Amino acid sequence: MSDTTIEYSIDDTMHTAHRLARAAGPGAIDARTGAVVALDYEEVQRLTHDQRLAGIGLTLFDMLGIGDGPLRTWYSSIMFTLDGDDHHRLRRLASKAFTPRSVERHRALAGSLATQRMEAVVEAGGGDLVASFQDLPIRVICTLIGVPEDQISEFIAYGEALSPVFGFMTPDQVAAAEAAVVGLSKDVDQMIASRRDRRGEDLISRLLDAEDAGDRLSHDEVITMVGNLIVGGDDTTASQIGCSLLTLLRHPQTLDDLRADPSIAAAVVDETIRFEPSITVVPRTLLEAAVVGGVERPAGSLVLLSSASASRQEDIWGDPDAFRPGRFGEPDAPKLLSFGSGPHYCLGAALARMTLAEVITSAAVAGLGETVVPAVDLSEPSNVEWVSTLGRRPASLAVTVC
Ligand code: HEM
Repeated sequence: MSDTTIEYSIDDTMHTAHRLARAAGPGAIDARTGAVVALDYEEVQRLTHDQRLAGIGLTLFDMLGIGDGPLRTWYSSIMFTLDGDDHHRLRRLASKAFTPRSVERHRALAGSLATQRMEAVVEAGGGDLVASFQDLPIRVICTLIGVPEDQISEFIAYGEALSPVFGFMTPDQVAAAEAAVVGLSKDVDQMIASRRDRRGEDLISRLLDAEDAGDRLSHDEVITMVGNLIVGGDDTTASQIGCSLLTLLRHPQTLDDLRADPSIAAAVVDETIRFEPSITVVPRTLLEAAVVGGVERPAGSLVLLSSASASRQEDIWGDPDAFRPGRFGEPDAPKLLSFGSGPHYCLGAALARMTLAEVITSAAVAGLGETVVPAVDLSEPSNVEWVSTLGRRPASLAVTVC
């Protein structure tokens, strides 16, 4: 079996490129990076559990010549880049603090922020939905972490500066990310000091107290973890808000359904993520030779597990190119792979889903798709410009009030 080449794109043509590549074989080579792309649902899921594949680790940093310094130290200590016992230990302790209950406590905040943003758009007679919701996820994350209100704007800047760290950074981006790690560490250090004698309900307090069989996170590990959550949750969720709102504006019937029955929000969120994901691949490195996409690949190969391809696979989803939220309520609905799977499964999936549900429900209640309508014809692909830092998203979504 030989490989086809896939021209990786982030725009509307991505789904067609995946479909054609899947038809040609279970794997492909990414034209831009030379990485092996696993396209098949079962294989993507299986490989997330396969210990012969490690996270991408420090490969990109080595390629960019970031040999030492605070950014490298931080990056090499986060859950994304660790595997095995070190990863398992951090994950266990963080999960004890980052519970579904702590997420639920911030639903009201996410809802009220989303409502405010939509009301502002309606009052102004229109606006850009992407810009309106851009900082909503990080505000929710900061409140959950316990960042004081007057420091949230600094953390928004840290989030922006850290979001490019998983890609090929420019020298300016490296400098900005490095400064963000230093600033964030100093700020979190002070927040830890202020909780030394008096713990609160926030995540920093919980991370300090999280204990398992006598083991605890060190002071430095708590600092690293806060940066880990910001880089994991900011751009990913903000980008998915853009993708989800675009999808709903292209399927306004679902906005009517959501207005009539807000209890469908969770299924609608999952279907928008399946249909138009912000995160499309999970990167891995082969620790030893293994068959991926039907071909034996040498150790050291970079492998992209394409959850975006898996989410549109015909024999898994039935009618994959139809937008149908009801599929997630059916018995034996397939598992959505956009949050990963296996030991690195997204720690913030519940928070992301909650935030997205509040955004789309508030948008529907404010009249999205009914009185708040797209300023351009969104069914025309050339009217949507796509951009990407960590997650892909529409650059803007202009709406007007009619
Ligand atoms: C729609 C939004 C989101 C998407 C699509 C997403 C996607 C993912 C994916 C695919 C992974 C697995 C990476 C891998 O296997 O290498 C992951 C891991 C992770 N995510 Fe998310 N994520 C989202 C939101 C969040 C949020 C809100 C947070 C926290 C505030 C978060 C924190 C993390 C962390 C800490 C990990 C690493 C877990 C580990 O390595 O054990 N994510 N995410």
